[in-house]
Amino acid sequence: MCGIVGYIGKQDAQEILMSGLRRLEYRGYDSAGIALLCEEGNPEVKVIKREGALSEGLEAALEKGSFSQSGIGIGHTRWATHGAPSDRNAHPHTDCHQQIAVVHNGIIENYSELQADLEQLGHCIQTEVDSEVIPHLIEHFKNEDHDILSAVRETVRRLQGAYALAIVDHSSNSSLIGVRQDSPLVVGIGDGENYLASDVAALLPYTRDVIILENGDLAHLTVDDVVIYDEDGVVIERSITHVDWDAEMAEKGGYPHFMLKEIEEQPASWEATLQGRIKNGDIHLPEITFTRADLETVEQIYLVGCGTSFHAGLAAMPMFENLLRMPVRTEIASEFRYRDPVLGPEVLTVFISQSGETADTLACLELAAKHGAQTVAITNVVGSSLSRKADHVIYTRAGPEISVASTKTYTAQLLVLQLLACHLTRLSGLLAGHEMSEDVRALLKEMPHLPQKMRDLLQDHAPIKEMARYVAGWQDAFFIGRGLDYAAAMEGQLKLKEISYIHAEAYPAGELKHGTLALVEPGIPVLAVSTQAHLRSKMSSNIEEVRARGGWIGLVTDLKEGRLIDMAQSVIFVPPTAPSLAPLLVAGVLQLLAYYAAVLRGCPVDMPRNLAKSVTVE
Ligand code: G6P
Repeated sequence: MCGIVGYIGKQDAQEILMSGLRRLEYRGYDSAGIALLCEEGNPEVKVIKREGALSEGLEAALEKGSFSQSGIGIGHTRWATHGAPSDRNAHPHTDCHQQIAVVHNGIIENYSELQADLEQLGHCIQTEVDSEVIPHLIEHFKNEDHDILSAVRETVRRLQGAYALAIVDHSSNSSLIGVRQDSPLVVGIGDGENYLASDVAALLPYTRDVIILENGDLAHLTVDDVVIYDEDGVVIERSITHVDWDAEMAEKGGYPHFMLKEIEEQPASWEATLQGRIKNGDIHLPEITFTRADLETVEQIYLVGCGTSFHAGLAAMPMFENLLRMPVRTEIASEFRYRDPVLGPEVLTVFISQSGETADTLACLELAAKHGAQTVAITNVVGSSLSRKADHVIYTRAGPEISVASTKTYTAQLLVLQLLACHLTRLSGLLAGHEMSEDVRALLKEMPHLPQKMRDLLQDHAPIKEMARYVAGWQDAFFIGRGLDYAAAMEGQLKLKEISYIHAEAYPAGELKHGTLALVEPGIPVLAVSTQAHLRSKMSSNIEEVRARGGWIGLVTDLKEGRLIDMAQSVIFVPPTAPSLAPLLVAGVLQLLAYYAAVLRGCPVDMPRNLAKSVTVE
């Protein structure tokens, strides 16, 4: 995700900001910028921002420019969520008169309403970025005679969404302000200098004493002091924490691997995915702009992707089918593109890609567009090729994923697909003059509870680690499930083989007896997923078939007791949820299972052999 650094003190702010931004590069970004308050006779805040890597864009721009030295500034690495990566859309953003500069991490949900109000008041918004409303709002309140602290307070009262902000103001040029709401921000305490950062990694060479801000906190930093206020402007005490991480640990947030960090980030990532998309029990996907005619023509849906993204399609397909009652197929992009599939205006094609750059998926989109099919892209990367070529784009907002094996981007894709299925059902219902269906209502009610359920599930790794210990001792493993549990099993087996190099296969449980059962020998691990109540008894019979041949059963289920549990050697429980949402929680278990098996086998978890994160060749 985006990164923030702020500095106030006697050293050269530019140098400290750039060093902090370099330490945040691991988080992934597409543009970067800094704002400096220059002491000598500069009428404005100096802002320098560039698209691309620090070493290509911003550093070169700074070398060319000549700026008088400054002791106060803010810096940002941006990872686009609103508006494509560009010099203009990079942070910091400023007010109309370049007196106030702001960097922002998070998403301002009500930015379009705020922008319309500000434009009415005569403010000139220059970028496509949600964050730009913030400096203009501060300017507005300053014009109404608020001092800077009160102007910031009034501004954040009007913001809906998540934000960590660092702010400098030309007219109060001996201070730096930080605000936090649902996006991390820490204050670094120095001697005659103080810092702000979204991530302690940025500050390690300078200080290890930090104040971790809480939601609603506003931090006012001067050279010698840090004062923290609550939402009402009352001074509050926050304790100082001493961090003893080394630089590498800090990059990974204290986790030994990015993959583990990214698995653990899923509850927060789902909150970002859902943010502003379910309001008062109804669904809002303004990115999808189908006309009545577009929707009425659709007779068939294809969900297309590669690898894990294909599996997200598999796990979402039944929801589309059940809610929309029309044929839906999930396709592997490298096959679809060479099959001469039936495509035309009556076909809705949905392309799923974390990177938005996978060559096969892009080729399929081009093929679909050529035949007049309607195209939707689901991707994590704003401005990616897929997002530029599709008729409609929904961003997954999972934040950058560094580990090669996809985890949080997979579940974010699945959640977006599920939102899309609900949205299309809701839209076609509205067109036909129907109330929201009970099924959609129930799903929209349950989805906001998923992040907490995942948090609960991820609390205790011990039983999953135990199961992984057994699996890690084998060279082969099988995954079985029925219906959505089979889709979840497919992703589980891919994770295991990708990072632990154990040969793994997933089968629809009912299909075992048609061949694969011949491979079941005493002790072989068979990971069975059972969350679909209507398939439970069938699943029990399939597990019996494995047990009868001596297979070792590791069960993942939402059931707390019963025959199924008694049949398994090892059981992991997932919190109960709506059946069609269960694959999201099962994913957490199977990702951790693969992770611990890989660690136990001494594999390079984040960079498995022969695999790449983004595959831009056929
Ligand atoms: C590579 C990655 C996989 C990913 C697949 C599709 O093979 O290693 O993790 O699922 O590409 O990538 P995409 O960016 O299109 O989702």
